[in-house]
Amino acid sequence: SSFVHQLADEQLSEAELLADPVEKIIAVGGVRHPSIPLPVELFGEWKNSGGIDLQERKILAETAAAVAAFPFSPVPKGTDSGAAAETRAATGHVGAAIDRAAAAFPAWSSRGREERATILERLADLLEENRIPLMSLAVKEAFKTLPDAIGEVREAADFCRYYAARTRSDLAPLVLPGPTGERNELRMEGRGVWATIAPWNFPLAIFLGQAVAALVTGNTVIAKPAPQTPEIARAAVKLAHQAGVPEDALILIPGGPEIGAAITADPRIAGVAFTGSTPTAKKIARSLLEGDDRPIVPLIAETGGINAMIVDSTALPEQVVADVLTSSFRSAGQRCSALRLLLLQEEVAANVIEMLRGAMEQLVIGDPGDPATDVGPVIDQAAYDHLMGYRESAKGRWIKTLPVPAQGLFVPPTMVRLDSIDDLSREWFGPILHVATWKAGALEETIARINAKGFGLTMGLHSRIARSAELTEARARVGNLYVNRSMIGAVVGSQPFGGEGLSGTGPKAGGPHYLQRFCAERSVSVDT
Ligand code: SER
Repeated sequence: SSFVHQLADEQLSEAELLADPVEKIIAVGGVRHPSIPLPVELFGEWKNSGGIDLQERKILAETAAAVAAFPFSPVPKGTDSGAAAETRAATGHVGAAIDRAAAAFPAWSSRGREERATILERLADLLEENRIPLMSLAVKEAFKTLPDAIGEVREAADFCRYYAARTRSDLAPLVLPGPTGERNELRMEGRGVWATIAPWNFPLAIFLGQAVAALVTGNTVIAKPAPQTPEIARAAVKLAHQAGVPEDALILIPGGPEIGAAITADPRIAGVAFTGSTPTAKKIARSLLEGDDRPIVPLIAETGGINAMIVDSTALPEQVVADVLTSSFRSAGQRCSALRLLLLQEEVAANVIEMLRGAMEQLVIGDPGDPATDVGPVIDQAAYDHLMGYRESAKGRWIKTLPVPAQGLFVPPTMVRLDSIDDLSREWFGPILHVATWKAGALEETIARINAKGFGLTMGLHSRIARSAELTEARARVGNLYVNRSMIGAVVGSQPFGGEGLSGTGPKAGGPHYLQRFCAERSVSVDT
C-alpha cells in the first residue's frame, strides 16, 4: 500500500488494521481520529461525519465492488453528445423553468421551516441509502477516487442535516423589544427563485449543499450543475424530489456557461450561489447588476485560491510530508482548498524536499475506482491540456515528477521550484505543487506576501512555536487556516468553508451564518 496509506495506518489501532485494504483507504479520508462522535449537545440533533465508524468501514468494504459493478457509462468527455446536446435543448428552456420555479415559490415558502427541515433530513437518509449509485457516479463521471466518492456522499448528507438543524435553531421569528402596545417581530423568509451554479469538483456535495440551503430557507431553485457532471446532479435532484421537495421547487438545468449566463440574466432570479472560478464570479456579479429596473440581489461566490503552507524549522517533517501530499495531490489537486505553494524555511528546505521526493514515489496513480489509488485522472481534456502545457513550460524547474499510466487524463504529480514566493500569481487547478523558501525571521513578511496575491481561501502553517501560530492567525487573510494539519477536507459544521478577496464573498458554506444570506429579513411591527 502507498505511503499515504501507511501513515494513516499508523494512526489506527491494531484491531482496526485488520487487513482489509478498503478499510485502510477509508481511513485516509483526511480523518485523523477515526470514530470520535461529536458531542450531540453541540449541534442539537445534528452530528457531522468527523469520524467514520468501523461498522461503516465494514459496509464500505463490502460495497466497493458494487460501486465498480454499478452500471453507468459516462458520455466521453469532450464529445459532442450527451451534455452538449442537452445544453442546446436547455437554452430555450431557462425562461420556462424560471416561470415554473416562480409559480412554485408561494406554496413552498409557506410550508414552514419545520416541514422543510424534515424534508432535508429525509434527503440525507436517502443519500446514505443510495450511496452505491452515487459513489459510482462520482467515480465514473467525476473520476473521484473511492475515498473522495465516500466523502461526497457524507458531505452532502452533512449539509442536509446541518442546514436542517440550523433552520430549526436560527431561523425562527425573533420577537424584539419595543414600546408597550407594539409587537415587533423579525422574520427570515425566502426571497424567491435562487440560481445555484455548481462546480464539477464536488458534483454532489457542493451541488446539493447550495440547493438545499436555498430550499430550506423557503426559496425555489434553478440548479445548474457543471457540464462535466450532469448525471450525479440528476440523481441528487431525483432523490430530493423523492424526499418531498416539489418538482417545480427544484429544477435541474444542465448545461455550460451559456446556460449559466441565461439564468443569471433573468431579472426574476432572487439570488445566486456560485462555486467556480474568480472570473466567472465577476461575470455573474456584473450580469446581476444589468438593467435599471432589476432588483439588487445577493451573490454568494466561492472561488479559487493560491493556497500556501508555511513550514518552519520546528515543524515535524514526517507530519509535514504527509500533510503536503494530502493537501496538494489528493483529488488530483482539484480542490479549491488544495495546497499550491509550499514555503519552506531555508534551514529545513533540503531535508523536507528530499523526504517529499521519496514520499511522492509511493503515490499510486491510476483507476479512480481501485481502492489502492491515491491520484486519479483530471476532469477533462481541456483541463489536461491546460495543466500539461503549464507543466511543460516549467520543465527547467521540476524538482520531482512521476510516471503515469499511458492511457487516460493523468497529469503527473509534479513539484516545481520557484525562485520567489511572488513568482506564482495564478491558480493551477491540478496536481502541481510549487515550492519556495523563506528566511528565518521573515514569517511576518512571508504572510504579507501571500496576502498580497489577493486570494484568501486556505493557508497552512506547520510550526511548534506558539507565537508563530498566533502571528499567522492574526495576519493571514484567509477563510480557512490550518495549523499543523492538512489543508483540505473542511468538515461541515466544524470548519465552515469559504474565502475572501479574490477567493469569494462568504458567508461560509457549512457554517452558522450561511442560511441567513438566502433569506429576506422582514421586520413586522403591529400596534396592538
Ligand atoms: N470543502 C472542500 C475542502 O475543504 C473544498 O475544496 O477540501
